[in-house]
Amino acid sequence: MKFIDLFCGIGGFRLGFERNGYECVFSSDFNIKVQETYERNFGERPTGDITQVNPNDIPDFDVLLGGFPCQPFSISGRKLGFEDTRGTLFFDVCRIIEAKQPKVVVLENVKHLINHDKKRTITVILNALSNLGYNVSYKILNLKDFNLPQNRERIVIVGCKVGNFDFNKIRNHKSNPLKDFLDTDGNFDYLEKSEYTILEKEYIKVQKESGLKFIGYRNKEGFKGVRPNSMHLNRVHRQPNRIYSVDGYHPTIPSQESAGRFFIYLPEEDRVRKLTINECYRIMGFPDNFIKHPLIGEQYKQIGNSIGVNMTEELAFQIINQKLLNITDESSREITGNLQELLYN
Ligand SMILES: C[S@@+](CC[C@H](N)C(=O)[O-])C[C@H]1O[C@@H](n2cnc3c(N)ncnc32)[C@H](O)[C@@H]1O
Repeated sequence: MKFIDLFCGIGGFRLGFERNGYECVFSSDFNIKVQETYERNFGERPTGDITQVNPNDIPDFDVLLGGFPCQPFSISGRKLGFEDTRGTLFFDVCRIIEAKQPKVVVLENVKHLINHDKKRTITVILNALSNLGYNVSYKILNLKDFNLPQNRERIVIVGCKVGNFDFNKIRNHKSNPLKDFLDTDGNFDYLEKSEYTILEKEYIKVQKESGLKFIGYRNKEGFKGVRPNSMHLNRVHRQPNRIYSVDGYHPTIPSQESAGRFFIYLPEEDRVRKLTINECYRIMGFPDNFIKHPLIGEQYKQIGNSIGVNMTEELAFQIINQKLLNITDESSREITGNLQELLYN
């Protein structure tokens, strides 16, 4: 069971697939700092810019994995040819699929992809995969359903040459609250009492859908214009100033936050502290012995860009469990001429 790891980041997909016995035969990411972390952990430097990769240089593989950046297409969703996606990174995913004919393709993206550009982006992606001969299914998955205490929604698209990926078979494991994932001792970065406000009891509830428990906020300037009696609403506070209780889940760790301003309230101590960088990696499913980049800002960015490992682990398991790799007809692996000629001659 061989796979390739495109837009690999620090290897969130790879960890989950390796845990299920798959072997990585090729990886690509053009960010030098990301490549450094990947190499430290997997002993292999990813190839750079995907747009420069000739598929004929990639060894054969069964599964293509890719958390590609979301870009608008300039064509209408009704057009079918993936050639029309030229100029986007998704086009590069497609030309590798066309040349290598993997049995399964797994793509991951932010939840917002589903509505991006008035739903045209997702329509073009689904059409293009189907046009390449794949049965396609997709679903929005949330890390909190994979035993990780983080509300992190991602769209996962799976294309199969034979059969169809059934998301209903995914084994969900509702996570315990954040408190069960925290370090018990260490050099924690606590806030002074004067630096934050904890809400009155009647305002504190675990939010139904997300499982977040917004409990207070850091006392920052800039509350001008906020209507009276609305300070208990989390939306009036900027994200890095919001404080969540460890009795609930953590909000999505974003990629733009390079200072790690994630503040958590510990009811038993009645104190607020920063989530540590190790805890950030843990609630993305990375093992404690994962080697992080030496620069702290990069550590935060890289984990925020990543995919949750428990989720990729389950996807890897389901591909085997649902027998989506059991293709016996070798003829389906032939390269379909035209586009190859167009690009490389
Ligand atoms: C959202 S991240 C994917 C992270 C990955 N799934 C993980 O688990 O860590 C997208 C990645 O695509 C990479 N990328 C963007 N454009 C690229 C290109 N032209 N060639 C190769 N990699 C690219 C970025 O450097 C970034 O690491």
